[in-house]
Order: sequence, then structure tokens, then C-alpha cells
Amino acid sequence: MTITPTTPTTPTTRTAEPSVEAAHPYRPVALDLYKDIHKGIRADLFDLTLEAGRIDPGDRDRRDALADHVRRSVTLLMDHAEHEDGHIQPALEAHRPELAAAIASDHEVIDARLPGLVALADDALAATEPRWALHRLHLELADFTATYLRHEDLEERVVMPALEVAIGVEAVGGIHEAIVGSIPPEQMAASLGLMLPVMNLDDRTELLGGMQAGAPPEVFEGVWQLTGSVLEPRDVAALGRRLGR
Ligand SMILES: [Fe+2]
Repeated sequence: MTITPTTPTTPTTRTAEPSVEAAHPYRPVALDLYKDIHKGIRADLFDLTLEAGRIDPGDRDRRDALADHVRRSVTLLMDHAEHEDGHIQPALEAHRPELAAAIASDHEVIDARLPGLVALADDALAATEPRWALHRLHLELADFTATYLRHEDLEERVVMPALEVAIGVEAVGGIHEAIVGSIPPEQMAASLGLMLPVMNLDDRTELLGGMQAGAPPEVFEGVWQLTGSVLEPRDVAALGRRLGR
């Protein structure tokens, strides 16, 4: 392959940011609407970015699987934004319009980048020189992830405590129930499969303990089987002890 030398344009945006913790110290909330699913999304974006950098460029099946993974991740992000826009955004608009505007703007920028990820994955699949197409995809996924991490940070560190102060813990609980109630079973299973392996024991106990208390026994049995399929046996045992199983 001939690589034609070109001079890249100089970026005009600032690329390094100072500590967010220093400016906005993290404050725990009673019920965090974002924490668990955001951990799952981080894990998925990290996996996807690394996969694009690691797979054998000459292996078409791996490039095909990567393009599928990009599509699944894009669907996950669109579904997630839909839950936030449908259930959290109205409360923010009513009580903290400036935060609602910041989130709406972030979601617009993120949404607009998603088709580009799919297009680059398709390019890498079709390319006659996939080595460089894959690296282009890896770079774009890494930069997209950086943007997404900043967005999640805003939601968890700033929006969530602001929402709790504005509407109270009980109303936050109502939003949580409305979100969970709106998720179809297969989407819930996919989300749990993504979240549980990257959550800690305390958070797993809280999440599954709530389901155990609130869901019909046969539904929780299905959740428990899924848990067994995505966690290490010793983690399942520790969680089982916490849940009295
Ligand atoms: Fe969001």
C-alpha cells in the first residue's frame, strides 16, 4: 500500500482536561439511576475499542464479528439515551433547565457520531487494506469513548445529585421503577449480562436484592440463572450468601 504524506490540520479544541474531582467532588446519592448501566457501557466501549486494535486484520470473520459488535453497542447506546430522555429529562427540564440543556446537547453530539462508527466498521470489513481501516476505527472508537466518558461523568457527578436535591429520593425511586418497567425482558437480560460482571458485590446485592423482593419468584429464578452464566462461581457464591440463597 502506498501511503501519501499529508499534513494533518491542527486541532483547535483543548484535548486535555483538569481533574473533574477537584472541581466537582463526587457525592453519593441514595439511589443512583446511572451507576450500574454506565459501568456496563464503559466496559463495552473499552472492549470494543481494544477489539478493533487487537484483531488480525487479515481475518475477515473477526472483522465481521467486530462490525456486529459495533452495531450492538450503537443499539445499546441509543436505547440507553431513550430511557434517559424519556424518564429523566422531563424532571431535569422542570427543575434544572440548564442541566437539561447540557444533556440534550451532549446527546445530540453523541447521537450524531453513532452512524460514523458503523460506517468505519463497514469500511474495515470491506477494505482491501484492512490494517489501516481497523486502526482508523480503533482511533475513532477511543475518541468516541473519551467523549462518552465525559458525558457519563456529568450525569453521575452533577446531574444525579442535582436531581435528588430537586425532586427527592422517593421521586427518584419512581423514575427508577418507570425505567425498569419500560425495558423489554430481552433488553433487560442483555443489560444485566453487561452490568453484573463489572459491578461489585455491594451493588450486585442491592440490584438483585431489589429484584428478589419485587419480582415474581419464577422471574427472579431466570435472573439468577443468568447471573450464574456471567459471573465466576466464587462471585455467585458470595452473592448467594448475601441474598440468602
Ligand atoms: Fe446520557
